[in-house]
Amino acid sequence: MNHRLELLTAYPFERLTRLKAGQTPPADLPHIAMYIGEPKHAPPPFVVDALRQNIGKLDSYPLTIGLPETRAACAAWLQRRFGVRVSADTMVLPVNGTREALFSFVQAVVSARDRPVVAMPNPCYQIYEGAALLAGAEPMFLNTTADNRFQPDLDAVPAETWKRCQVLFLCSPGNPTGSVLSLDYLRHALELADRHDFVIASDECYAELYRDEGAPPPSLLQAALASGHDQYQRCVVFHSLSKRSSVPGLRSGFVAGDPALLKPYLLYRTYHGCAMPVPTQLASIAAWNDDAHAAANRALYREKYARVLPILEPVLDVVEPDGAFYLWPDVQRDDAAFTRELFARKNLTILPGSYLARDTADGNPGRNRVRISLVAPVDECIVAAQRIRQFLENH
Ligand SMILES: Cc1ncc(COP(=O)(O)O)c(C=O)c1O
Repeated sequence: MNHRLELLTAYPFERLTRLKAGQTPPADLPHIAMYIGEPKHAPPPFVVDALRQNIGKLDSYPLTIGLPETRAACAAWLQRRFGVRVSADTMVLPVNGTREALFSFVQAVVSARDRPVVAMPNPCYQIYEGAALLAGAEPMFLNTTADNRFQPDLDAVPAETWKRCQVLFLCSPGNPTGSVLSLDYLRHALELADRHDFVIASDECYAELYRDEGAPPPSLLQAALASGHDQYQRCVVFHSLSKRSSVPGLRSGFVAGDPALLKPYLLYRTYHGCAMPVPTQLASIAAWNDDAHAAANRALYREKYARVLPILEPVLDVVEPDGAFYLWPDVQRDDAAFTRELFARKNLTILPGSYLARDTADGNPGRNRVRISLVAPVDECIVAAQRIRQFLENH
């Protein structure tokens, strides 16, 4: 077997299952799941209809590059959402969800010579770390804490380390912190990428989930254009329908950016064999072409924050994040013990913050924090918040 597989650690949810083992929560309280970032809003009916109407189109192999119409719909959305123009022929590729793309992109880009580094926020989506390890790179964790407003401090990284860096992962809005990176921040990251010759992989899968309708999170592609990178040099962004359109089961997203990176990545994908089925592409086109359902989705999350925060604020240091759909409070005690007790007493499952982060010389930035996903329907989120409040008042 590939010896690097031994470097992969258990997924946070496996550790959570072990943490909860042996606990017997009260049988009269129905279980509420707030540990997973899986959208639970109903998928848009027109997307389901598009999939149903096209389900018979299974008689030929789909091309890895996708249908021109799929790429055109993604490019048109990028233009509407961020005001950027990308060539649908050379700057966009459909992917089967951003998870596989974040992973496979690193396999295609990283050259295992010269002790490569892949930099990433800490905490982060664990796939970044696994991708780096399997590509033969050393993951470098950039701690995000309340002190740096949950944004990796890029200037704290020594130049010698940047020299070894081949890929920098950014995530905005961030999972789990919800922090949004500004255009200036992204431009600065790009300056470093130019200076030290690395690629930025910008995970923007929460780009459509933000609180302030007047301040949508910017994309790395906008920063690239503002910095004169007219071919989006060194930049690749990852977008998904999973959160935007509440269709995590469709497995649909796309990557966009520097054609000099996407061309070899397409070659890699051709061998890897990850073409998107045509029915999925046609349903995805319907989803990317419509912005009204994404706005309605956003409004639902906004309502949840408005209802849940007043319940929690008296007992917990909760802050409304600028984006995504999580709460990331400091519970001022051991996060795993807190999670286990909350489950045992209130039949409510959240995720210990330290499971999403890695130990570093400066500690584990997820320590004493928990991730609460506001994915359940509004009423269930309210009940969950009430249970957390009672738990904290009584224990
Ligand atoms: C930060 C982040 N990136 C990527 C993904 C993967 O999303 P998908 O593969 O559904 O596009 C997730 C899913 O939870 C995530 O939280």
